[in-house]
Amino acid sequence: MPSVPSLAATLHMRLAEAVSAALPQDTPAEWIDPMLRRSDRADFQANGMLALAKRLKANPRELAGQVVESLPPNEEIGSVEVSGPGFVNIGVRDAAVLRNLAARSDDERLGVPYAERPGTTVIDYSQPNVAKEMHVGHLRSTVIGDAVTQILEFRGEKVVRRHHIGDWGTQFGMLIQYLVEHPHELDHESDAADAKDQGEAAMARLNRLYKSAYSLFESDEAFKTRARDRVVLLQSGDEESLTLWHKIVDESKTYFQGVYETLDVEIRDEDIVGESAYNDGLQAVVRDLESSGVAVRSEGALCVFFDDVKGPDGTPTPLIVQKSNGGFGYAATDLAAIRDRIGTLEADTVLYVVDARQALHFRMVFETAQRAGWLPEGAARQLAFGTVLGKDGKPFKTRAGESVRLVDLLEEATQRAALVVREKAQDLTEDEIRERAAQVGIGAVKYADLSNSMTRDYVFDLDRMVSLQGDTSVYLQYAYARIQSIFRKAGDEKPQVHPTVELEPAERALALHLDEFGDTLAAVAATYEPHKLAAYLYELATLYSPFYENCPVLKAETPQLVQNRLFLCDLTARTLRQGMTLLGIRTPERL
Ligand code: ARG
Repeated sequence: MPSVPSLAATLHMRLAEAVSAALPQDTPAEWIDPMLRRSDRADFQANGMLALAKRLKANPRELAGQVVESLPPNEEIGSVEVSGPGFVNIGVRDAAVLRNLAARSDDERLGVPYAERPGTTVIDYSQPNVAKEMHVGHLRSTVIGDAVTQILEFRGEKVVRRHHIGDWGTQFGMLIQYLVEHPHELDHESDAADAKDQGEAAMARLNRLYKSAYSLFESDEAFKTRARDRVVLLQSGDEESLTLWHKIVDESKTYFQGVYETLDVEIRDEDIVGESAYNDGLQAVVRDLESSGVAVRSEGALCVFFDDVKGPDGTPTPLIVQKSNGGFGYAATDLAAIRDRIGTLEADTVLYVVDARQALHFRMVFETAQRAGWLPEGAARQLAFGTVLGKDGKPFKTRAGESVRLVDLLEEATQRAALVVREKAQDLTEDEIRERAAQVGIGAVKYADLSNSMTRDYVFDLDRMVSLQGDTSVYLQYAYARIQSIFRKAGDEKPQVHPTVELEPAERALALHLDEFGDTLAAVAATYEPHKLAAYLYELATLYSPFYENCPVLKAETPQLVQNRLFLCDLTARTLRQGMTLLGIRTPERL
């Protein structure tokens, strides 16, 4: 069933409109903002009369009084009064709350409206590097990118995923040359059974290749020269070099897919469009930037300069599009990628889910593309994320100072989660425990990442992440599972709403929060802030607790009350499930 906008409109939105319409007739449109909020004192409080009174040079309490006059109680509004210095307090009728939620519940999208003008967004996320391990930075990019993608798609945006993997560059000369000279280096016996083990085995072979090639490169001048020549061969399209390069890339993809499976994210092969894919566009980038004067030659290199980007000694730091030896780097590829994304894929918006430490790179790349006329102003945006820290507050590293392997972290998270699951559920089989532990452990890692505002650094603390107390995914999963256990007793029949039955305070609080889901998602999609969805869900689970404790469901006094409470349980569960799904987190039926 499609979302009907009028049904989808939350009470909040409708009340805000009503208050706006109740303002003095001649109020200029740009001053109209009722600033309606949920409140402890009433269901809603409008604070906008204070600012407006100042502008109109009126008395705020009088202005608020006028608004109250022209806002008589009706089907929705049960009470309305002036409070404090000029606030308007509004109470909503129980029946209106319940009817609104019933309409939301009848919609499979839970009343979440589609975006009014959906466009095309290209999102660049989860971009690990070929022949290297994935680390905790790739976790952030993958998890945030996946959530943003799901949220935008849910709102009706067309989203094109681009995994800009690091599959090009000088290190491939060394690896390929080594393979030319040791053709059996990547050979192996039959494949392991599952994707994860296959991936691990592939990575082990790549590590071995990398080590051997690197040590030869460092110790043998003649090999070094052959490796450098090999890069030139590769870039000029030499068949043999390309075949071996493909072999290395494929090994890496096998490894990536193993990690993605563990992480429970779907990454499709056709969306993996690495740096190499833009190779053919690089010459044109250089030609066009040079002829338009956007880039200039400086000591042989092709550079773009910026007034406000300078090194510590005050000399300008340019973006280098082409090195003096003719080679291309990271910047050139990103510029060619922008032309493809805006020009060919016709993106309205291009997003880059990349570490905040690359902010300067993207600022320069975007500015260059704009000057060249390839990128409309404001169309590109880096969703810059902070660093994952260890318990010592420093960037997360192993004791030996190496970056932590993502697979090790995920394994540890799942093991911790298994302890929690085992303790909670006595009657689960070993298989069930393993499955739940993965859903709980991986969910915990994702949630800990997503519930922090993206730009913030956060401490990777597994004990906290898998805790049943506090703002964790386990807490949310537990709330969901608790509701499912009620339905195992009550049966699956869809509960019927009885709008004439009064709501208790805990029911009202839960119901009014449920009603905000659509608005929350719209805001989250508009600002690319998954942490606000996480905060919404956490509050939902938090409001469910007092409801669960104070309002017996199956043992409620009347059959109507039983139905109404079952209805609230059902909508809470579906809202939790939908929200968590958008964050990439599973909701097991039992915990
Ligand atoms: N592969 C890079 C890294 O691991 C991230 C690529 C980001 N995307 C881009 N279009 N530059 O740091």
